[in-house]
Amino acid sequence: MSIRIAPSLLSADFARLGDEVRNVIAAGADLIHFDVMDNHYVPNLTVGPLVCQAIKPHATVPIDVHLMVKPVDALVPMFAQAGADIISFHPEASEHVDRTIQLIRSLGVKAGPVLNPATPLAVLDHVIDQLDLVLLMTVNPGFGGQSFIQGMLPKIARARALVDAAMQRTGRTIWLEVDGGVKRDNARAIAEAGADTLVAGSAVFTGARDVAAYQGAISAIRS
Ligand code: DX5
Ligand code: ZN
Repeated sequence: MSIRIAPSLLSADFARLGDEVRNVIAAGADLIHFDVMDNHYVPNLTVGPLVCQAIKPHATVPIDVHLMVKPVDALVPMFAQAGADIISFHPEASEHVDRTIQLIRSLGVKAGPVLNPATPLAVLDHVIDQLDLVLLMTVNPGFGGQSFIQGMLPKIARARALVDAAMQRTGRTIWLEVDGGVKRDNARAIAEAGADTLVAGSAVFTGARDVAAYQGAISAIRS
């Protein structure tokens, strides 16, 4: 199985975002991971639909919007309009998780919940057959550059089993994405545990900040 790499723009140079998006795609990014933080659900503040819309013309791969906002529903149509291809959200930030999933999918956008390190996999029980992806946090959300929580490896493996069972049952494809502290030296263990999509921020936007640097970082993670 080939692994998808989703560089997180959180570690990009925001003064040159269009260039960063084009360069990281030229370097092999499969998705653009777009972290939205509201200083309420998480203790940090980033960017909204306006910036998503601004990068859309530069993004020749899908934009993977990770909403760390509460409440979440009002922003969903705005991000769909702004060009999001995937929207993930934290169940703790939605009063009605099933409704939020339906809302995202009704707009033609792929949907999935994001599980914090301490969020049990049981949150998937009654919605998994409707999901396009499951995103597992392997750091606490809010900041780039944190260390991968080792205890998440068995959780990834258990999520893999749930996702496989759901895919068999429904015939649909569900991605299992991992976000937080992904580096070249732990990517193998994360993929072996069952992740098929890896978000990486600080491990990709590094070095000389050009296509060659990003290519080196992405191919090191991929291999
Ligand atoms: C954290 C964000 C991540 C973050 C990952 O709340 O959701 O996407 O940017 O950054 P690294 O790869 O540096 O841990
Ligand atoms: Zn993220």
